[in-house]
Order: sequence, then structure tokens, then C-alpha cells
Amino acid sequence: MAGQFFWHELITSDPKAFAAKVNSWVPHGIVLKDAWFPLAHSFAVEREPVRRAVYSQPFFLWREHGVAVAAEFHPAEGLTGTKSAFSDAAGRYPVLEKYGYVWGWFGNPANAAPEHLPSLPYLPEGGGLPKHMLGTVRFDCSAPLSLENLIDLTHADFLHADVVGDEKMDKETVEVFHDSETITMVRTCVNKSVAPIMKRFGGVKADVQQVRQVIRIYLRSHAAIAYGRFSPGDNVQLFHPCVPETRDRTRLDYAMNTSNVKKSNIFRYMMPKASYKVSRQDSSMTSPQSPRYMRPETRKDLHSPLDEAGQKYRVLMIDLAERQARGDFAYRDNVSADCSEIIGYTKA
Ligand SMILES: [Fe+2]
Repeated sequence: MAGQFFWHELITSDPKAFAAKVNSWVPHGIVLKDAWFPLAHSFAVEREPVRRAVYSQPFFLWREHGVAVAAEFHPAEGLTGTKSAFSDAAGRYPVLEKYGYVWGWFGNPANAAPEHLPSLPYLPEGGGLPKHMLGTVRFDCSAPLSLENLIDLTHADFLHADVVGDEKMDKETVEVFHDSETITMVRTCVNKSVAPIMKRFGGVKADVQQVRQVIRIYLRSHAAIAYGRFSPGDNVQLFHPCVPETRDRTRLDYAMNTSNVKKSNIFRYMMPKASYKVSRQDSSMTSPQSPRYMRPETRKDLHSPLDEAGQKYRVLMIDLAERQARGDFAYRDNVSADCSEIIGYTKA
């Protein structure tokens, strides 16, 4: 695959060029086009329009005869002012409804196609998850920064220790896979401290558990799969989209599918709500960090070998942005192909 070729070339032939690219990262400077964004939970879109935004580009969403519609203008006002090139003659955007979300296409409408919609294996294609598994949080930081933070999951041991457990364990391995449109990080932990939330609400009595966590980012859609397998314990099946409402504000309409957890187990209801606490903890780090990337900085952006996933995420994003600057908006890899095997998910 083209993306892989690019990687091997850059890493093996020129580590200095790779490091220079990692350090040239300006998350606010990257605006990728031709992507589906999960703009709203399906339940939030009704007959009356709601307003969303991608990089401040307005997206009004509503339903006509039950079918989701997305437009640049409020339907009551019609076409007013100057229309962008992102909508058709009537000011409408390509729109799809899948996995319990209304997705809007940001980019050239002629290039919109269902096969560019990310594969999310553990969300029901037709939606319908109960509302207690869905929620919305916001970050005062650029979306790529939020995702870079997420894909370095070692941060969770420190920042979210009181929810998902601390850094104590016998062994840890991190593996990273990618193509030109996605990056996937697999973290395996041996005998890790049990997540406090599982001890308190999940009925886990042991002191340690075996953990396998996967973060898979769909680069253009700024959307992540966060899949955790815990033994003993229940699997955590989170969809973590980071819609860039503006260059430094991110909207996260999340879905945590806990229907795999027994109905008698309170973890089924508590775990999705933990997102509100966890997102505040993340925000305490990324919100002050975000503006520091907005002006030139002479200090070095330092990394450790454990940052492999984050560094590769940066370079893949920069690569996509460079291709788009040259007028190349094509998808070289298929994001809608079922990724169950890649993330290690088997349907119950
Ligand atoms: Fe976090």
C-alpha cells in the first residue's frame, strides 16, 4: 500500500527527516477535506433543524419524512449569502445515517461515497443504542491534539488512574499498524492493577487483570475506536469521534456500547457516564497545551520510544495534508472494510 511504502521509506532511509516532520507538527494548521464526520447522534436529529459545524462551516441537520438532511442554510431562511463549494446547488450536503449517527460530508460533494465511511464493528449499523450509552462532551483544543493524546494510552495510567487503573503491571507492549487513512495502536498489559471502576461497579474481585487496549483512528474523519478487553472484567466498546467544530474546539458525540455487560451489572450504566469525568481530566491537560502550538516555539518537542503511535499519527496527518495541498484527495485505502480482525473484536 502506498501509505506503508511511504512509512518504510521515511523511517528506514531517513530518521532525521522523520523526526523533523514529527516536530513540524502544527495541529491547528491541518484541515483535511473529503471526509464523513459524525455530526450528531441519530436521536438528536428531528423535524426541527439543529446546527452543527465543521471548521466553522455550518451544517444544519433535520429530517424530511424521516430521512436525515444536511444543509448549509437553515431551511426557513433558504439560500442566503454566498454558498460554499461544499454543498450542491440547493445548499445541501451529502449525508448518510449509519451506526446511530448522522454523518455529513466535508469536502467536494462529487467525491462523497459510502465506502469512505469508517468501519465501526461493535456499533449496530442501524443505531438504536439506549441513550444511557450515548453522550456529548467538548474539548477546548484542536481535534488532532485530542486524538494524539488518546492514541498514547499510557497517559491513562496517570491521568485516569482513579477510573481505569494505575501504571503498576508486570509487562507492557505497544504495537502500531497503519495504512494511509488509519493508524491502530495495540497495547497489551500483563497483571495490571484492576480498574477501580470495575472493582467498584463491575464485580471484579481480583487485584490484577490482563488488559488489551486498541485505539484505531480514522485520520480524515477524526474519529477513533477505543476497544478494551479486560480479563477478568467486561470489554469496553467506545466510539470516540473528535469533530473539529473549529480549529481549536472539538465536539465528541460518543457511544459506549455496554450491551455486552449483564443487565444486572451496574457497570453497564456507570461506564458510559465515566466519560464525563475522564474528558474533564483530559481537558485539564490538552486545553492549556493547545494554544502553545499556535505560535512559533523554539523549545524542542521531546519524545520517548513509547510515543511511536503519536509520532506516526502526526506524520500520517501531515502526509495527507501535503497530498491534499497538491490536489490529491483520493482514498488509497478502504476505511469501510470490516476492521474486526485488526482490532481483535469478535461478535458475541
Ligand atoms: Fe484520556
